[in-house]
Order: sequence, then structure tokens, then C-alpha cells
Amino acid sequence: MHRRKFLTIAALSGLVPACGSGSDSASRSSQAALDFRNPLRVPPLLHPKPGKDGVRRFELSMQAGRTRILPGRQTPTWGFNGGFLGPTLRAGRGDKVQMAVHNRLPEVSTVHWHGMRLPARMDGGPHQPIEPGAVWTPHWTIDQPAATSWYHPHPHGTTAQHVYRGLAGMFILDEDLDLDLPGDYGVDDFPLILQDKRFAADGSFDGDPLKGTFGILGDHVLVNGTYNPHLSVTTERVRFRVLNGSNARMYTLVFADKRRFHVIANDGGLLGAPVEVEAISLTPGERAEIVVAFAPGEQVVLRTADNGVDIGEGDFDLLKLVAAGTLKPAPGVPARLAPLTPITAPAGATVRRFKLSGHDAINGRGMDMTRIDEVVPAGAVEIWEIENNVYSHNFHIHEVAFQVLDVDGSAPPAYATGYKDTVYVPAKSVVRLAVRFGGYSDPASPYMYHCHILRHEDSGMMGQFVIVEPGTESQVNRTIPARSGHTGHSGH
Ligand code: C2O
Ligand code: CU
Ligand code: CU
Repeated sequence: MHRRKFLTIAALSGLVPACGSGSDSASRSSQAALDFRNPLRVPPLLHPKPGKDGVRRFELSMQAGRTRILPGRQTPTWGFNGGFLGPTLRAGRGDKVQMAVHNRLPEVSTVHWHGMRLPARMDGGPHQPIEPGAVWTPHWTIDQPAATSWYHPHPHGTTAQHVYRGLAGMFILDEDLDLDLPGDYGVDDFPLILQDKRFAADGSFDGDPLKGTFGILGDHVLVNGTYNPHLSVTTERVRFRVLNGSNARMYTLVFADKRRFHVIANDGGLLGAPVEVEAISLTPGERAEIVVAFAPGEQVVLRTADNGVDIGEGDFDLLKLVAAGTLKPAPGVPARLAPLTPITAPAGATVRRFKLSGHDAINGRGMDMTRIDEVVPAGAVEIWEIENNVYSHNFHIHEVAFQVLDVDGSAPPAYATGYKDTVYVPAKSVVRLAVRFGGYSDPASPYMYHCHILRHEDSGMMGQFVIVEPGTESQVNRTIPARSGHTGHSGH
């Protein structure tokens, strides 16, 4: 019954769920299993040290720890500046930032700034490894609209394991737009990082993120690393910055009472105008900002509804919101948000086609770190067409902002028409994107595009592109020499 109801919503909102292809041992429901006894953890804001040159310097330490997630159990976890997950970073448009990322793990890793527009050498993909004991110090100037982005490891072949163990954090970008929106972090503006896990009897994370069709589809959904959480609401409206930080699971977020709420932003920033919905879907890597209204004294549960899709099976309660008897006034939702300029491909724009095959290849080829797959002129707007003949995938492109033109010829739901960097590619479908590339050219350092189901990314469903000065495309050496005794100190 629940499921049929949702399918109706999905159909109405233009989201077309494909039939499930049978996923790997996903438990189907946690409904009624939670009593919401744990206060929701809110990742602390990491305050940068301002240098004399005005550069804001952030220190991150990748480290192992033990975390109490289930009652009476200690889970071995990894985190940034703590045992699990990471602090929230925050910077404004025009800020110069410098990171110092210390790897105190026993393995090589990297840190990628997902959603950030920056030079490829600062991107933190597989070509910027940080050896155990080393420090990586990338720096760049924030030059993009306000957005909810995030950071996570990206070492080729072990991203799934590193993220599953807990390495992920939010990176909030601000911009002075003179918009009255809830924006007081930890008061009326909260991150919600959604991650599903499986647990062994001793409390350790269970499951192999590189097994089966999708790797991990867990039966416990954590919010900001908290299982079974509640959040006390003190204001009439609350903004939630929702990040799907899961290895494979897709969420379809609804409130138990089916209340409507406003979507105000996608991955890459604010929408032109808020979109009122009853449900939104997010695949791994995608973000949305929503604003929800509360009445004094009420309680409501946020949940994910089974959407009939292979990676979205199961109903799970996520978080109980408990409103105080008296609520402080909060800003409303302005009728106009950002001055969103549509990304429009010029006549005769380059069209590139990417065919996702199985779980480990794009256009018939697996990821090869020594091969440049695509060469794009700086500042170009292109059409990228993603074709998927099998089960669910999604598609993420580093560095860019794109807008979804259509999914199998139909417009995307209104709430997903803003700037994005990650998009769901349903089974047996074609998704077309208008992609705007940035201006940092470097023929020797590639950015990645890949499926953000981490099992697929690690298995080779990833390719590499470089951005070059327009007119120099044909001069690019398509082969990257294999790395020779690199240092952990790149980025200067
Ligand atoms: Cu969030 Cu290439 O990744
Ligand atoms: Cu990315
Ligand atoms: Cu995939």
C-alpha cells in the first residue's frame, strides 16, 4: 500500500522508477523498529586559521577510531579530526582557502572536494595520493555560487571501503545574496548526512562494499553517524542540507504525515525559485537543501520510502523531529532564490556519449589511470549523453555544473532543475546533460567522471578528462606516465 502510494507520487513528480532487478541482500524495512532515543549528532564547524595573507587554513587529520553507534557496542571507524565522519567546512565566495590534510591512517588515501570548482591538481582524485604519514596542502580560491558540497576519499579501488568506514564530511559554500533563509548552523540549519550500514554482532561494520551488483545496501540508516536519532526543533522553519553519503542506496525522502516542504537547492546551489514537494529522491553523492515548517509541540518522522528501484528498496525511518512548545520565528521561503542562469549549449555544441556497461566500464573500457579519455576546451558548454542499458547507475562529473535536459526524453522533476554535479541514471534510460566546464586548464592533470555507486566506481566505471586552452586539444598527450615515486606533498 505504502509502495503504491509512493509510485503515484513518483509518477506525478516525473520520477520514473524502473523495476527492481533484485539487489544484494538488502533488508527491506526498519519501520517501527526505532524509538529515536539518540540526539542527532551535528558535525562541528571547523574554524579555519586566518593567515597573514588572508588565506583561510583548514587542518584535517584522517584517523582511525572507535565509535558508539549501537547500544553497548564499539564500532571501529575512520574519520577526519575524530573517529567518525568529519567536521563541516565552510567558506565564502572569493575566499582563499588552504587545506592541510594529514594522513594518519595505515593506508594511502586521497581527499576529493566533491562539487568544488578548482584546478585539477587540487581536486583530490586518484592522482593526488596522500601516503600514510604525509600531508597534502592544496589551495584554491572559492569561485562558485553558495552550495552544499562535501569531501571524501577517492583512492582508485578503495574509495568504497574508505567512505564506508566513515570518511566523509560536508563543505558549505556561502555567498552574499541578501536572501532571508534559515542559515544559523545547528540552530535552524542542519546537515543530514544519510549513510546505510550493516553491522556484525560485535558492532563492527559488516559487508563487503565491493561484492555483488551494488556492494553495500545496509539495513541500518545513520544520520550524521547517529542511529535511531531525534532532533529538537526550536524554530518555525528549519533548513536541512541533505547529503546522500551512502555507498549505493538511493533515498526517497518523505515525512510520515506526508507534509509538503520546499526544495531550495540542488548539488550546485540554489534553485531560481523554491519547489514545493511531498517527496524527493537522492542517489549517492547528490545533495538537496530543503526547508520544512513545524507547528509548536508537534512530532514528525522523516523516512525513506521504498521506491521500487533496485537501489532504493525498503522503508526506513530516519529521524524524528520534535518541535518545542514555543517556536522562535524563522525566515520564510522567498519566492525568488538565486539568479540561476540556464546552462545553454550553443548551436553545434560538442555532444559526447557515455554508455554505462555492466558495473565496471564506460564505453566498453574500464578506468585506466594512464589514459585520458576526453579533452575539453576551457569554458565550454557541451551536451553529455549518458546511456544505461542495465540496472541503476548514476553519473558524477568533477569540476563542472550541469543541468539535466531530459531523462528518456522527459524533463526532470522541477525540484531537480538547478545546477547539479551528480544525477541518477535509471535502468534502461538515457539522460542528457548540459554541462558547463570551468576555466582552469591543465593538459597533464585529469578530472574524473564516474558512477557514484562506489562499488562501480572502484571497479572501473570511471573515466578521465582534462580541460585545456581552447585550440590546443589536439596537442594533448593522451597517456599519463605512470607515477614515479611521487611525494605526498603535491599541491604547491
Ligand atoms: Cu564524490 Cu569523484 O566523487
Ligand atoms: Cu566529485
Ligand atoms: Cu553504477
